[in-house]
Amino acid sequence: MRVFVTGARGLLGAAVVERFRTAGMEVYGTMRQPSPPAPLSHSVGEGESPSPASRERGLGGEGYLSLDITQPAQVRAVFDALRPDLVIHCAAMTNVDACERQPQEAYRVNAFGAEVIASHCQRLGAVCVYISTDYVFDGSKRAPYHEYDAENPLSVYGRSKLAGEQAVRAFCPRHYIVRVAWLYGKQRKSFPQFVLEQARAGTSPVVISDQIGSPTYVADVADRLLQLIQTDCYGTYHLTNAEPVSRYEFACALLALAGLEIAPTPLPFRAWRTPAPRPIYSALTSWRVEWAGVAPMPSWKDALQRFWADLC
Ligand SMILES: NC(=O)c1ccc[n+]([C@@H]2O[C@H](COP(=O)([O-])OP(=O)(O)OC[C@H]3O[C@@H](n4cnc5c(N)ncnc54)[C@H](OP(=O)(O)O)[C@@H]3O)[C@@H](O)[C@H]2O)c1
Repeated sequence: MRVFVTGARGLLGAAVVERFRTAGMEVYGTMRQPSPPAPLSHSVGEGESPSPASRERGLGGEGYLSLDITQPAQVRAVFDALRPDLVIHCAAMTNVDACERQPQEAYRVNAFGAEVIASHCQRLGAVCVYISTDYVFDGSKRAPYHEYDAENPLSVYGRSKLAGEQAVRAFCPRHYIVRVAWLYGKQRKSFPQFVLEQARAGTSPVVISDQIGSPTYVADVADRLLQLIQTDCYGTYHLTNAEPVSRYEFACALLALAGLEIAPTPLPFRAWRTPAPRPIYSALTSWRVEWAGVAPMPSWKDALQRFWADLC
């Protein structure tokens, strides 16, 4: 199977590339084109397939193909060259506050980019996997959200990602929309590394005490994605580590694993001032993962232990 992963240098994208390559798939990862953009023909020319040698040379940088998902001509050329069977669309504008400040850019990347990717998947008969977010929900339910709960995003980020979901549903019937949340992993600095860094420097990390969610290890998402895409049960899925937890409790569990005797400083959610509103409660649960025959996601405690072991 020929797989094409957008945002392959990102936290989740890198884990997906690694997991799918380990499973023996032919995987191509893309990164955004450096600025100023080089002509696409320097990476993958229209109508030609990148040879293994060109991949080794790392045209596009570090072995990734260059692609800006908001440039329709580039997307067309890369699709025509690669002719993927499956596209895992991880690329997004993920800085929630930056999205609030630059709504047009947020919609361009998260909604229009998804429209372009989904329409080329449909044109070439590829299955489209769109990675979405817990921030499509407003948090008022105060219990884990399942796949049939109504969305009501609070922020530009959430609204632009929901617009991306809607585009994928409309443009490419053979799709999986996979909502993830509070991602962490080894691939780049994420919440656990921030907590550890502060604690190791002797500073008590300030952590929101009463925000509840589903911290999720990217290795688990990548693993279940591999199972999910083999089911042909298209539609919307929640893929997060099981059992809701507050950021504070999660940070305490991490510090205990690391043997660091420093307690985080709790900050109430209402005192957390950010440009973008966030849901106070955004834990997810999945009904559809089990129905599709995919192994349930492990608990956040189990995932955190494996992450810690991987980090050491
Ligand atoms: N992180 C979380 O906690 C979280 C929570 C819920 C949902 N999600 C969703 O999960 C997915 C993966 O998130 P992540 O945290 O792994 O992302 P990330 O580490 O921020 O990586 C996102 C990637 O998107 C690429 N990108 C951005 N704009 C692009 C453009 N115009 N064209 C091509 N590539 C572009 C970037 O490429 P370059 O590196 O080349 O710039 C970057 O590597 C996203 O869809 C996100 O919305 C994440």
